[in-house]
Amino acid sequence: MLRFVVALFAVITSSSGKKYGCLEGDTHKPKPSREPNMHECTLYSKSSCCYADFTGQLARSPVIKVNNSYWNRCGQLSKPCEDFTKKIECFYRCSPHAARWIRPNSTAAIQFVPLCQSFCDDWYEACKDDSICVRNWLTDWEWGQSGENRCKNKCIPYSKMYANGTDMCQNMWGESFKVSQSSCLCLQMSKKDAVAIKYLRSESSEESSSGSSSEERACQKKLSKFEKLQREKGENAR
Ligand SMILES: *[C@@H]1O[C@H](CO)[C@@H](O)[C@H](O)[C@H]1NC(C)=O
Ligand SMILES: *[C@@H]1O[C@H](CO)[C@@H](O)[C@H](O)[C@H]1NC(C)=O
Ligand SMILES: *[C@@H]1O[C@H](CO)[C@@H](O)[C@H](O)[C@H]1NC(C)=O
Repeated sequence: MLRFVVALFAVITSSSGKKYGCLEGDTHKPKPSREPNMHECTLYSKSSCCYADFTGQLARSPVIKVNNSYWNRCGQLSKPCEDFTKKIECFYRCSPHAARWIRPNSTAAIQFVPLCQSFCDDWYEACKDDSICVRNWLTDWEWGQSGENRCKNKCIPYSKMYANGTDMCQNMWGESFKVSQSSCLCLQMSKKDAVAIKYLRSESSEESSSGSSSEERACQKKLSKFEKLQREKGENAR
């Protein structure tokens, strides 16, 4: 019996594989753990793939650069646009769930993380009057001697670079993100993600889900409950 239990445990841990690990980027921890003193990205304090120290770079506004990557090459981002950019940076650097969408050949990278349409639309709205000189933030820079990013092309408004929120979400970070068909089985870099994560099965499983699957229904139900609870908490706080 014990042997069976041990074998079963081995199967479970190996099949869940990367799920509870971290990406393998230059700032990532080997595995997620609590970071009580985070300056930013506090959504991930309980289980974080970045060190609290790292988030110091994001804690100031305006953010000038994160590691070698300058955020102000086309001028300072507006506060709302900066806030969205931070959410994406925090997810990539700190989320203990990001590795669920690890890129097979490139373990520092993610692919096709499902984002909510509303999140992408709001992000676009926040940034549309800011300027940018790359369509793909990961590849379209010229790299300086010490690895810093420089514009190759002219700065133009986000609204000229990207047609809409979908276009922006699915191109700004290469193939890292896609816009989900579902309004529940998708991430929006908020506390609601806990619900989505619970019902999102591994990698591309929600590829074909069009809102009729049992995960979708279960997710919607749980999300309504969650929202109700949040509202009640809000009312009590007042
Ligand atoms: C990024 O910053 C971290 C510390 O915050 C450092 O360990 C790492 O080497 C840096 N990477 C690059 C490419 O500068
Ligand atoms: C992944 O890596 C292998 C071996 O290096 C290579 O043959 C393959 O083309 C790569 N696949 C992709 C999608 O990059
Ligand atoms: C967003 O832009 C893309 C690319 O131009 C276009 O194909 C798509 O129809 C647009 N979506 C909406 C909702 O306007």
